[in-house]
Amino acid sequence: MNTITAAITAVGAYVPDFVLSNKVLETMVDTNDEWITTRTGIKERRILKDADKGTSFLAIKAAQDLIAKANIDPLEIDMIIMATATADMPVASTGVYVATEIGATNAFAYDLQAACSSFLYGMSTAAAYVQSGRYKKVLLIGADKMSSIVDYTDRATCIIFGDGAGAVLFEPNHEGLGLQDEYLRSDGVGRDFLKIPAGGSLIPTTEDTVKNRLHNIIQDGKTVFKYAVTNMADASELILKRNNLTNEDVNWLVPHQANKRIIDATAGRMELEDSKVLMNIEKYGNTTSATLPLVLNDFEHLFKKGDNIIFAAFGGGFTWGSIYLKWAYDKK
Ligand SMILES: CC(C)(COP(=O)(O)OP(=O)(O)OC[C@H]1O[C@@H](n2cnc3c(N)ncnc32)[C@H](O)[C@@H]1OP(=O)(O)O)[C@@H](O)C(=O)NCCC(=O)NCCS
Repeated sequence: MNTITAAITAVGAYVPDFVLSNKVLETMVDTNDEWITTRTGIKERRILKDADKGTSFLAIKAAQDLIAKANIDPLEIDMIIMATATADMPVASTGVYVATEIGATNAFAYDLQAACSSFLYGMSTAAAYVQSGRYKKVLLIGADKMSSIVDYTDRATCIIFGDGAGAVLFEPNHEGLGLQDEYLRSDGVGRDFLKIPAGGSLIPTTEDTVKNRLHNIIQDGKTVFKYAVTNMADASELILKRNNLTNEDVNWLVPHQANKRIIDATAGRMELEDSKVLMNIEKYGNTTSATLPLVLNDFEHLFKKGDNIIFAAFGGGFTWGSIYLKWAYDKK
């Protein structure tokens, strides 16, 4: 029997300094603080202002934060999975550059793209490599510079997204802690409801695509909301039932931070009390691949060894799912 489980043993994060508040957005598009707060729960988000810096900048900072806090040697890292929907550039993998920049020269790296579920899917991938016994230190980074693809004249999207990065280290565990179960799903029905229309192989970049603003993220918010509410709640409920967990057994819900109402619906279905539902959406908005590790980083001080944590996410594609993980350490 394989007795190796894959546990999260360290967390790091980074957000840029610049704060874009609802008040400032009021001066940019026809919106107001009250509407944004009641419809989404977001008050402000962080923006990477430097025009010459991409997602890799955020990812490197988050990885360096983890390396410093956990006091590990980057040379020990076996592999890096870079979860992102906003790679620095097409083709050249952002994760490869990040690995080199942080001195993880013994690691191999690649990018994983599943929109807002990138980090959740990345947890599955990282854990599988560790559980198999093939690698011992797998660094999973979730980072997105959403401001690089947001149209700041479109009030349906610009109020939602922000920039940020987080990282976790997966290592083998012999006490049964770490990832316990996962339920990951996808459905191509979502392809047209949340996307960047041009710049890929289907509609390559032309003068017209630029003129027609087809390189920004667009969404049918109502439809995305409907699918997200149902699927995140369904997936989380299924994970509970399948593992014979009651709401009492769950210590924390770590949900993708897309919209407070989606999180509330998921928590409601799980019949969780508010104090177990972790949120920082008011400060960062939706940072896509970075939401889950940013929550882990902000609330790490609350977690105790053995705590039952349920992760849940939903994203473009559509992609979604839920992961059940047992926390592996008390913070020093
Ligand atoms: C985008 C979202 C916040 C919009 O909230 P909503 O309650 O669905 O709002 P609607 O789209 O129904 O719009 C309601 C009204 O507010 C208006 N509105 C839209 N954006 C607005 C804004 N930023 N400020 C003020 N009014 C706005 C609409 O035009 C509409 O007006 P109307 O009734 O006169 O037509 C919500 O749909 C959502 O969060 N969707 C999921 C998005 C998401 O999570 N995406 C990432 C996936 S991981």
